[in-house]
Amino acid sequence: MCGIVGYLGERPILPLLIKGLHRLEYRGYDSAGVAIVPQAGGDIKGLQLFKKKGKVADLVAEIGSAEPQGRAGIGHTRWATHGAPNDVNAHPHLSGNGRLALIHNGIIENFHPLKESLAQRGHTFESETDTEVLVHLIEEILAIEGCDLFTAVRNALAEVVGAYAIAVIDTQDPDVIVVGRKSSPLVLGIGDGEYFVASDATPIVEYTKNVVYLEDEEIARISLQDGLKIRTIGNHTVTPVVEALEMEMEAIEKGGYEHFMLKEIHEQPRSIADCLRGRVRLDHGVVRMAGIDDHCEMWTAASRVIVVGCGTSWHAGLVAEYLFEDFARIPVEVEYASEFRYRNPVINKGDIVIAISQSGETADTLAAIRMARERGAHIFGVCNVVGSSIAREADSGAYTHAGPEIGVASTKAFTAQVAVLALVALRVGELRGKIDGATFGRMLVELQSVPEKLESILAQEQTIVEIAKAYAHAPNALFLGRGYNFPVALEGALKLKEISYIHAEGYPAAEMKHGPIALIDEDMPIFFVATQDAHYEKVVSNMQEVKARGGRIIAVVTRGDTHAAALSEHIIEVPKTADALVPLLSTVPFQLLSYHIAVLLKRDVDQPRNLAKSVTVE
Ligand code: AGP
Ligand code: GLU
Repeated sequence: MCGIVGYLGERPILPLLIKGLHRLEYRGYDSAGVAIVPQAGGDIKGLQLFKKKGKVADLVAEIGSAEPQGRAGIGHTRWATHGAPNDVNAHPHLSGNGRLALIHNGIIENFHPLKESLAQRGHTFESETDTEVLVHLIEEILAIEGCDLFTAVRNALAEVVGAYAIAVIDTQDPDVIVVGRKSSPLVLGIGDGEYFVASDATPIVEYTKNVVYLEDEEIARISLQDGLKIRTIGNHTVTPVVEALEMEMEAIEKGGYEHFMLKEIHEQPRSIADCLRGRVRLDHGVVRMAGIDDHCEMWTAASRVIVVGCGTSWHAGLVAEYLFEDFARIPVEVEYASEFRYRNPVINKGDIVIAISQSGETADTLAAIRMARERGAHIFGVCNVVGSSIAREADSGAYTHAGPEIGVASTKAFTAQVAVLALVALRVGELRGKIDGATFGRMLVELQSVPEKLESILAQEQTIVEIAKAYAHAPNALFLGRGYNFPVALEGALKLKEISYIHAEGYPAAEMKHGPIALIDEDMPIFFVATQDAHYEKVVSNMQEVKARGGRIIAVVTRGDTHAAALSEHIIEVPKTADALVPLLSTVPFQLLSYHIAVLLKRDVDQPRNLAKSVTVE
């Protein structure tokens, strides 16, 4: 959601900012803009500003043959919260005198009173955004005798309630960028005589691997002459901690695939192997996870696990519920982070909250863990993005190691989350003495064989393309599964609706007869997960019920199955595995199916309408 990029240095600045914006496109946005301070400084006539509703390509067309030069520049992709997506509301926004340009990710919650009081003092505004209010506030403070930009930004942010990552440039100081953050991510890249600013590391990795993650309520002044200085809003000096970025360029490029989503689906054998690497030692029959091993007593004594997440991560949480109950025998509750956050949940000492988030920046999940921590829970993070806010705020955790996920539809992150959660459940079950050695050992062997089994599913892509052709024009779809495959049904429906815009619902297969069965007719595709597990016979009965009503069944079945297959118009086979690990396999056909349906419908697969990759507003 919204992307921020900034550059300070001698490289050709416009191409660098545009490339950065392209790298950030995956986050989801509706308009884009750049502002560059001219080399010689100057006023509004000198400040080079371009902004445009639509894609970065539209912005590039708007810029045309203009060649703005300068050493300090900022770029933004906006995901509108206040005011429609249009050219005027697009960022950067200027101060009234045109001296400053500012980009912002997040929401200024108290923008209304701030705007009113600024208006009373003579400020007029061009846009409907909350952001413009902030740049006027900074301008006003900066006008105070002796005040510099760093101080002005700090004092202005002290008045702000809300979430933000901001970057400000000043026409009076062409070699400086001032940035700040609270609850929205911001990374600084430190090059050789140059600096980068971005919402995440993807625009930076090409140039430097030295990064500083700005913490909440920190403000930084980056200057070509004075280097990097960080202070808190409370005006305490912070010594920057430079970290090494663990990201490779190829991970953020399409590598020959038509879309990131397809690339990421195909990466799953590798991402699962990466996720298990170093954690599963088959030769010794052990699982090693520092996040658990450092807190053995806490896990042994835990009275309850509460899992929080949103969207696909919430689905992984549902799988975790089955895993923890089966292997660790701990009561589990799975909550939408946004609902949990605004209830008054009973949290007892000894409760462990597992926060699942690919991006590690989801505002709802972040707010949920902050509330749970205040009430005494231990927070265990399961995140994909290294150094992300949730990863850093959690008391302990485990990374999923799936590598950057660029497609808005989460695919490899989901399977990696399930794999990590399986490991956590097994390790905790072992610590609590709830799992016998033979089962433990068998699960490890099964886990290790998942990458190979995934390859065999991906090899059936052509079959899935044919199924996609048959159902691409269905207006509705139903996804059904039971037990471990119930979350898979939910995830299948979410994938289809978010990238193809086909209305789809996921249900527990048995629940169908309590309502959704009324929807069944010969036009309604019903996607079943009917793998040979504990619920197989029951699911087959549910398939009979659909068949009896003329429904069209497409089923994910265990390789060699004939029973469920006989009831289906189309089948996709997955290899046999342990019941608890079936989601790692049965999800993948639905990922491919959704992908190919979306391609057939000519949807914007990697950046579906209205969606954002990391949802940094509550
Ligand atoms: C998944 O395909 C979605 N785009 C979305 O539901 C996502 O899973 C959700 O926003 C949570 O994101 P997170 O894992 O980064 O917290
Ligand atoms: N609230 C700001 C706006 O609507 C910023 C939105 C964003 O994060 O892109 O302009």
